[in-house]
Amino acid sequence: MPSSTFRSGHMVSRRGILLGATAAGAALLMASRRGLAAAGRFANPLKVPALLEGTSGADGKVYELNVASGKSEFLSGISTPTLGINGAYLGPTIRCREGDRVTLRVRNNLTEPTTLHWHGLRLPAASDGGPHQVVEPGTVWEASFAIRQKASLCWYHSHLMEQTGEQVLRGLAGLFLIEDESGKSLPLPAEYGVDDIPLVIQDRRFNDDGSFDYDLGMHDVMMGYKGNVILVNGTVNPHVVLRRQRTRLRILNGSNSRIYTLGLDDGADLVVIGSDGGLLERPARLRRVRLGPGERIELLVDMPSDRSVRLMSYPDRVATGRMGPGMMMGGMAGNAERFPIIELRAQKPETADLSLPERLIQVPGWTAAQAARTRSFSLDMPMMGMGGMMMGAAGMGGAMGINGRAMDMDRVDERVSLGSVEIWQIRNTTPLAHPFHIHGVQFRTLDRNGRPPLPHEGGLKDTVLVDPDSTVRVITEFSDFADPRRPYMYHCHILEHEDAGMMGQFVVV
Ligand code: C2O
Ligand code: CU
Ligand code: CU
Repeated sequence: MPSSTFRSGHMVSRRGILLGATAAGAALLMASRRGLAAAGRFANPLKVPALLEGTSGADGKVYELNVASGKSEFLSGISTPTLGINGAYLGPTIRCREGDRVTLRVRNNLTEPTTLHWHGLRLPAASDGGPHQVVEPGTVWEASFAIRQKASLCWYHSHLMEQTGEQVLRGLAGLFLIEDESGKSLPLPAEYGVDDIPLVIQDRRFNDDGSFDYDLGMHDVMMGYKGNVILVNGTVNPHVVLRRQRTRLRILNGSNSRIYTLGLDDGADLVVIGSDGGLLERPARLRRVRLGPGERIELLVDMPSDRSVRLMSYPDRVATGRMGPGMMMGGMAGNAERFPIIELRAQKPETADLSLPERLIQVPGWTAAQAARTRSFSLDMPMMGMGGMMMGAAGMGGAMGINGRAMDMDRVDERVSLGSVEIWQIRNTTPLAHPFHIHGVQFRTLDRNGRPPLPHEGGLKDTVLVDPDSTVRVITEFSDFADPRRPYMYHCHILEHEDAGMMGQFVVV
């Protein structure tokens, strides 16, 4: 076990998922220290974020989003200081329709600056909510734009320069649900919270006083923050009672860095119908689906009566076990454990139509021949040596960055011509997988190392996992929103990497 030197003593419990009982283990651990009653396995009913539909005004729908601090009880009897939007932790699910004109009114009631970025949305850079659209304490920032994309599960989160990881970890994230006409005409579950259930999966570490532990060491910055307690919609140790035979699960990996390899513990295939930017062309059946930070997946789960199934995360075979030259990294990536995420319980579900359309939608696409140009991006990490020390020497890597440069808010890295189709080629020579995300567009994955993308990656996406020693090519059209002064971001969605500089800026001109 190459990583054994790093996994001794308290590191195991600190870094490793509390296996078996998962979060119950943490609750037990913490509760036993305090003599409190411990929660049982899957004891807690899943919380479902409230819907925020907006109020109709003269200029479309207005959504009020109040960012504030609060206290949450994740572990029984233990209070955790958190941040939230219209609540103590996370935010409501913003719901709108294609064609809507929306105004998102963000009020910052914190004593620190923040931003809210609409991840996956096609919108002008001025409304993007990235590091340039800071909302100072006590002020209001409005983003107004038209919804110009198909039904999909997008999300929103803090994007404060160098503090995204911390603010998201404390709770500044929520879902952004877009609906459309074609989605309504397909026989798919669509009753929010009933047979259409969102799951925001996150991992956290707790300090003894109940607060979140985001005291980053070099290991966290390099490998990305890993927690040992799983939260689903802010629920520790969750179960959900399914009320219909067929349920749609819309899953966001809202974790700072953990990659989940999802599967069902009864061995049934996952039926994937959608990804980041909407439905797939046709359902894909897979035993396992890897989901990197920032990525979304939509599944259909059919359950007979009186059955319980657990949605699990399995060891990531891709991102673990590799050793770089003179390094010990692979096993340390920390995606090597098997643990349950949530228990799905069917009691006496209402029967539903269990037929499945062969074709779902027509996904827009572009051919390589249409591309005006290819841009290349290489992901850079300083290499880590024995004892977890960063190796500063040349040849052992420099700073965290893209194409040899760390993020600089005053430097625009790429200028894209309005209306052009481009291929972006992302090359990863580091020993870790990085989820690469582009703002303002939805893209298609052209290929991975020259081979076609995986079946569940065939739809529109805005975030794609780029595995160690591999190259992924994506293609998209920059069809709208020229603004030479306001950049969009592209970055690794491991938030510790983003905050450490693995991010760049582009303008559309
Ligand atoms: Cu999900 Cu630049 O962000
Ligand atoms: Cu984004
Ligand atoms: Cu990264």
